[in-house]
Amino acid sequence: MNSVVTQQRVLSGMRPTGRLHLGHYHGVLSNWVRLQHEYECFFFVADWHALTTHYEQVAGIQASVWDMVIDWLAAGVNPGSATLFIQSHVPEHAELHLLLSMMTPLGWLERVPSYKDQQEKLKEKDLSTYGFLGYPLLQSADILAYKAGLVPVGADQVAHVELTREVARRFNYLFGRGPDFDKAVIAAIKKMGKKSAELYAQWKKQYLEQGDEQALATAQAMVSDQQNLTLVDKERLLGDLEGGGKVILPEPHPLLTAHAKMPGLDGQKMSKSYGNTIPLREDPAVTERHIRTMPTDPARVKRTDPGTPGKCPVWSLHLIYSSEVSKEWVKTGCTSAGIGCIECKKSLSDTVQVALAPIRERAREYESHPDLVRSILVEGAEAAREIAKETLEEVRAAMGLGY
Ligand code: TRP
Ligand code: SF4
Repeated sequence: MNSVVTQQRVLSGMRPTGRLHLGHYHGVLSNWVRLQHEYECFFFVADWHALTTHYEQVAGIQASVWDMVIDWLAAGVNPGSATLFIQSHVPEHAELHLLLSMMTPLGWLERVPSYKDQQEKLKEKDLSTYGFLGYPLLQSADILAYKAGLVPVGADQVAHVELTREVARRFNYLFGRGPDFDKAVIAAIKKMGKKSAELYAQWKKQYLEQGDEQALATAQAMVSDQQNLTLVDKERLLGDLEGGGKVILPEPHPLLTAHAKMPGLDGQKMSKSYGNTIPLREDPAVTERHIRTMPTDPARVKRTDPGTPGKCPVWSLHLIYSSEVSKEWVKTGCTSAGIGCIECKKSLSDTVQVALAPIRERAREYESHPDLVRSILVEGAEAAREIAKETLEEVRAAMGLGY
């Protein structure tokens, strides 16, 4: 598969943390559900990544994997549109991680901000391990094994995608310029015709000598649009334009999830560690009680005290779930003491329940058919392996291991 094509491939992973909540839904899953219709998508359970921090508590990981995948499916991630699998079912990730480790400077890994941050944050764990240092490189292998062009991640993961870009660039630089590369490039340029060849040389010079990104983009577009070049030729020229060899491992781009932070029951960011979540799979009566007991604007001591929605966590959830009409009703009612907090919460609770109903329904289906979940993951791993194997063949050959 060629990098010109695979830039449209999307890949993302999630560590198995167990059951998911509305924060995951609005932050990640709704995005995946949208992307699966627009791109070729790969979503996987990063169980090896879980081991880098939880190697002393392996007991919980397995159950978390199933719970998490059921929640993905319940949220609408569709195995007919996206490939879903478990990382450890595709050993090519580990092989690529090993091979990349040969050429990754130690300093690059030590400088990734999450390395020191997490060691500080998880002080009770001994994270001065080889595996934990390699966490972001394993993530690079996850991405590069599929030559993914787009990696949907939160802001905390952007540095890992950046590292992946550097690793890919170094790999291509070291292993992409085989002995016949220059000859093949000259032949490919000829095929474009005289006029295009001149432009190509001019734009390449502008980029390599003056760092003119616009010239690079224009040249890339011209190469991609050439009718009389094979995909392999295009790949060579795209590598040559950037002053390197053939692009064996294309550089991925982070796809930042634009969502504002999902507020939890207490108005802080929704997170399991704050105990303020609304899980996707929960008895509706429990969800109703959680919402009914939410804190409100402290100024509304009595029913007749007017409030300020901006100071109330209930309002933050109305903003996400309620219609314009309901929001207007809350705003007017709250500030004039025309409605009570009980009514206001009841309206929110009803709306959230309606939104969660189809998710719970799908979850029940999968809960009662564990074999179905298992076979989705087995088939996903097979499909993923097909692609990862192809990449590994190229990588092995480039590194002199093509026996
Ligand atoms: N490190 C990611 C996280 O903690 C999970 C992950 C592992 C991932 N491999 C990946 C995300 C590859 C995107 C691409 O959220
Ligand atoms: Fe919050 Fe609604 Fe009560 Fe206003 S009426 S304080 S928005 S719960």
